[in-house]
Amino acid sequence: MCGIVGYVGNRNATPILIESLERLDYRGYDSAGIAVIDGCEVSLYKTAGSVGKLRQMIDLNKNGGCTGIGHTRWATHGKPSRENSHPHMGDKGIIAVVHNGIIENYEELKEELIGRGHVFSSETDTEVIPHLIEENYGGDLERAVALTLERLRGSYAIAVMCKDEPDKLVATTKDMPLVLGIGNGENYLASDVPAMLKFTNKVSYMCDEEIAVITSSSICIKNGSGGSVDKKIETVTWDAKAAEKAGYEHFMLKEIHEQPHAIRETLSGRISELEAEIKLKEIGLTERQINSISRVIITACGTSYYAAVLGRYLIEKIARIPAEAMVSSELRYGELVLDENTLVIAITQSGETADTIAALKEAKSHACHTMAIANVVGSGITRHTNNVLYTRAGLEICVAATKSFTSQIVALHLLALQMGRVRGTITPSQSKQIITQLRKLPGQVMEILEKSRGIEKVAVKYAANEHYFFIGRGINYPIAMEGALKLKEISYIHAEGYPAGELKHGPLALLTAGVPVVAISTYDNTYDKMLSNIKETKARGADVIAIADESDTNIEKYVDDVLRIPDTHEMLKPVLSAIVLQLLAYYTARHLGCEVDRPRNLAKSVTVE
Ligand code: AGP
Repeated sequence: MCGIVGYVGNRNATPILIESLERLDYRGYDSAGIAVIDGCEVSLYKTAGSVGKLRQMIDLNKNGGCTGIGHTRWATHGKPSRENSHPHMGDKGIIAVVHNGIIENYEELKEELIGRGHVFSSETDTEVIPHLIEENYGGDLERAVALTLERLRGSYAIAVMCKDEPDKLVATTKDMPLVLGIGNGENYLASDVPAMLKFTNKVSYMCDEEIAVITSSSICIKNGSGGSVDKKIETVTWDAKAAEKAGYEHFMLKEIHEQPHAIRETLSGRISELEAEIKLKEIGLTERQINSISRVIITACGTSYYAAVLGRYLIEKIARIPAEAMVSSELRYGELVLDENTLVIAITQSGETADTIAALKEAKSHACHTMAIANVVGSGITRHTNNVLYTRAGLEICVAATKSFTSQIVALHLLALQMGRVRGTITPSQSKQIITQLRKLPGQVMEILEKSRGIEKVAVKYAANEHYFFIGRGINYPIAMEGALKLKEISYIHAEGYPAGELKHGPLALLTAGVPVVAISTYDNTYDKMLSNIKETKARGADVIAIADESDTNIEKYVDDVLRIPDTHEMLKPVLSAIVLQLLAYYTARHLGCEVDRPRNLAKSVTVE
């Protein structure tokens, strides 16, 4: 996704902007640019390609002025090119703008502006913004931006600079992330925290329709109706190192190994083993509301959707409420029958996924109870519901989600247990049983991580295959799908996740000699059925890799390889199986020499539909 940065202070802006953009490259991009006010001129540098290429275009030692904006672009309108790169300027060359989002009515605005003699140099939706601001500019940049916003429809995080007001940036947002960084005699803005962590850890998160006027010595924020906003300044605990790899070869491996900590953090302060109670203060649902819920819909995208599918099982099984999981892009346009007795839960690591935010807004428009399970504090989704259950997995940079996924599953267990206790569908002793096992999860994850070598051996053994199948039943079915997604998105091997019972309805036609089939066959009420599925795949010459319990001494004779998980409550096994499959995907992709942290065509946060 696009990333924007800005700096206003008393130091040379150019190296600070470049360094900030380099910290955003995990968002995925195809071009980059900066603009700085150099004396009374705007110096503009932009290119298709990397921030490194941009850096080479500029003499960083030359003092190019103390105010500037920068941008990494992930193309949505107009191909990756220098002309389409940001910053964009108006005809008079006095206004420069960087933008993340989509201006949905840009064609009509562009036609109107061309009709008034404006000349455009790009195919982008963004370029209408500086032209409009220049038209509205009469010496007051903040007012010119406010007037322009009245014409824009769509999503935007915008930073604006004017050569006639050199010590000032104006920034605003709607449905996009925008963070302000507070320094000493200098201030920053960015799409995300890592861009500024090297310079400050004091941040404020902008809300929709707020306008910030930022100078080297002040930040003034107004809301959509012009009233002053007194923003809370948060201290980010992630240090700049956290955004580094901390010695691991890839962010993905680092984040897989952070899962014991992520799970511990997600549980922290929320379970009391003694009373067997869950304490989720964050979800603002009263007991009466929890008892009035007649239906739960969990909506998400990608890996978060597979957490949603698993959450559906948990809520039905523990809280006995009819529940379903729905891909966000289907819910937002699905014209579903929703009402005030429906609880819609949006799950999103980034909190910025456009489809998921839109799905939650659709639910709100039908007076549903809403909540979000998110990993990024102050992210977009959290501004659309008051009930946010944070997963506390910490910064997740690798495009492939890992620690956020297992943290989402743990959060869903907590939610299902709390709702089950309120509705009386689970007894204190049953709840205590699960809670006791939840507390043991971090240690059990450690046991799996310590056996990584065995997983790597199996990964390398099957890495040359073009196709992989993942099968599971019940609560393991979403894990089979997630295992397939992990493998395909970082190793580019074609992989499919299937309910094991579906093999006869088509997939068996594809199972030939040597095709690896990962069978999640941990002990539960479908274990014998899984064994039958394993036999039918073996009979067709496939190679079977079983995910099995430590204590299962039976499975060995039926399969080619066994990857084991520690014994635990059957409803928690998916967390452990998921970690095995993350490592299987990681070591496969690493063996194949793939770009593990930034797979082709994908971005960490899909902020456009
Ligand atoms: C998963 O590994 C991918 N990165 C992708 O499917 C991701 O889960 C999806 O885009 C949803 O992202 P979100 O959780 O930030 O909303």
